[in-house]
Amino acid sequence: MKEPYQLCLGTAMWAWTISKKMAFDLLDQWYQAGERCIDTATNYPINKNSADFRKAEQWLKEWLDDSGVTDLKIMVKIGALSNDGSSKNNLKPSFLSINHQHYSDLFGEQFDCMMIHWDNREDAAAIDASVQCMESLCSTNQALGFSGIKHPTAYLQSIKSLGKKPYLQAKQNAIQSHLDYYNELIPFTKTIAYGLSGGGIKLHSDYSNSSSIKQRGLDLDPFKNRIDHIRASVNNFNQNNPDTPIENMHQLGMTLAQLDPRIYGMLIGPSKPEHVADTISFSKRLKTHLSNYESLKKELDG
Ligand SMILES: NC(=O)c1ccc[n+]([C@@H]2O[C@H](COP(=O)([O-])OP(=O)(O)OC[C@H]3O[C@@H](n4cnc5c(N)ncnc54)[C@H](OP(=O)(O)O)[C@@H]3O)[C@@H](O)[C@H]2O)c1
Repeated sequence: MKEPYQLCLGTAMWAWTISKKMAFDLLDQWYQAGERCIDTATNYPINKNSADFRKAEQWLKEWLDDSGVTDLKIMVKIGALSNDGSSKNNLKPSFLSINHQHYSDLFGEQFDCMMIHWDNREDAAAIDASVQCMESLCSTNQALGFSGIKHPTAYLQSIKSLGKKPYLQAKQNAIQSHLDYYNELIPFTKTIAYGLSGGGIKLHSDYSNSSSIKQRGLDLDPFKNRIDHIRASVNNFNQNNPDTPIENMHQLGMTLAQLDPRIYGMLIGPSKPEHVADTISFSKRLKTHLSNYESLKKELDG
């Protein structure tokens, strides 16, 4: 796993479960810890409240203006036309150009990566027009990326023809993985895992009404057996490895991502300062004790 996107702070829950004050506190903490990468999207938060469309990027801009910070690396997902959770989007070159200009004006040099957000198209020629347009818009220092690509095969030639490897966001946690789905694209991309906690699954506690799982309306019933198996495996692992226990789903997600050679970086979604602190300290532990967790991965894979 390499720089610069070893860890990237996600903003999907800002203005949803995360207040403006909390978002600013998380940014302060992230920055003070030496981290610089941020992931956002035009339609964050996807909370179905149209008044909140673009709220995450607005808060990020406000924090930049207040703090005077000028060296973030901001990854922006573009194309969605609403935050109602539907797939309404526009990936035509003209719209991509307008958005590239908007984020260049908003974030300046800190606009580090332009990323397509959701694409249900199967038409390789139309896809290629979007990808070629992005490549022509981005400066040599800017990266390209893709998130929510429904037809990976239709993207393959366009991605292979790019001058530099783009980023690809893919869900990866102890319950669900999209890595096989994106298998053919992975050798030609820098793949970044998101959803490390399965959207906020708890190993040891119940869900409050303000929890991420409840607010997103995620139904965990189909995964009940898998979650029970994970809890039992983690308990067993912790008894045998009391010095390097797994304390929550997020740590488990980070561990599995770090052990997977296909993954280049991780997107994290903390909702409070303890989550940021936990992520940073656990990532240090993974650098020194990764091999301790291979047996747990084997058990969960088996
Ligand atoms: N989800 C997607 O479809 C998607 C797609 C592409 C990109 N992304 C990007 O990836 C970022 C992360 O995605 P995600 O929110 O789905 O990630 P996630 O890690 O699966 O879920 C985040 C939730 O997990 C809990 N959590 C986070 N860090 C924790 C920690 N250290 N310890 C214990 N619990 C922790 C929190 O739930 P509680 O608040 O309930 O405690 C938090 O709201 C997003 O913000 C976004 O920028 C997401």
